[in-house]
Amino acid sequence: MSNLQTTILDITFPNPFILASGPPTAKGSMVVEAFKAGWGGAVLKTIGMVPTIPPSPRVHAMRSGKVKWGFLDIELISEMTVDQWGDQIDMIRDAFPNRPIIASIMGEDNPDSWQEVVRRIEPHGVNAFEMNASCPNFAAVEERGSKLGQDPESLGQAVSWVREATTLPVIVKLTPNVTDILPLAQASVDAGADAFCAGNSLSGIGGIDLETFSPLPSVDGIGIVGGYGGPGLRPVMLRITAELAQSTPLHIFGCGGVSKWQDALEYLALGASAVQICTAVMWEGFQIIEKLTNGFTKYLEKHQYDSLGEVQGRALPESA
Ligand SMILES: Cc1cc2nc3c(=O)[nH]c(=O)nc-3n(C[C@H](O)[C@H](O)[C@H](O)COP(=O)(O)O)c2cc1C
Repeated sequence: MSNLQTTILDITFPNPFILASGPPTAKGSMVVEAFKAGWGGAVLKTIGMVPTIPPSPRVHAMRSGKVKWGFLDIELISEMTVDQWGDQIDMIRDAFPNRPIIASIMGEDNPDSWQEVVRRIEPHGVNAFEMNASCPNFAAVEERGSKLGQDPESLGQAVSWVREATTLPVIVKLTPNVTDILPLAQASVDAGADAFCAGNSLSGIGGIDLETFSPLPSVDGIGIVGGYGGPGLRPVMLRITAELAQSTPLHIFGCGGVSKWQDALEYLALGASAVQICTAVMWEGFQIIEKLTNGFTKYLEKHQYDSLGEVQGRALPESA
């Protein structure tokens, strides 16, 4: 039988389907439930030194008739403190000592705000850190979120701060809200990053309430620009994945619009090592992992591929 197990940066994932940072990983109990269902790993909801107060509503579900095509979200980082997250990670580790847990972190324009989160979270036994340098839902004046991920110099500096604080793998989650990803990728490589997640949501407006003319989602009648996640993000992220795979030696976690095993296979064929999923889990629940792993296994068997490595990068021009 084909083996879905894959080892990335010395971390062994039972399969390449990983929960992306977001509502499905907002609490330890949800991650435990997901691991019981069979998920290959989880990136925790982004943790920062200053927890946020969640807006309500946090998302606007986007539909065309019966077709669901994503969420426009205005959610910020976790509402739990770093120390509360320490307890949550302990709880996941008690239930699943070996399943990969990646801590998503976000800091500000100074080393302490990143390094203190690393220092407090690392002893709880996470396998890697993912730097959220890509959330579009922060005001433009703040040197974080996707604003940080749009400036190679600031990004390189933040990566070097995290690099200094840990020997665990450092994954940089990139934003699609740029015209050229390569200077940002290079700045991350130069500062010591180990891998990329490509990537976070696309900056957008979810729609307009045509009675009140408020952009959606609307909080007390006020709408703001948020982040779009869902199937429409996939072509953008597939392109960025290919660009990263062709230009850097780092591992890539493809992320954006994966809801079927075929979508994941496309990311791998363009050079990703695994995929992360958020919106499809919010729509369909943790149980979609069964369809994902079964479909992928059958495909590998049909083509007599023994491992994921045999499909990885096959759609890149130099592999043709
Ligand atoms: C409601 C919501 C909250 C999210 N929160 C985070 C977060 O805290 N940190 C992060 O790095 N990405 C966050 N994301 C982005 C997702 O991890 C993912 O990058 C994006 O939605 C694209 O993947 P998808 O199409 O599978 O949803 C969030 C997405 C949504 C929809």
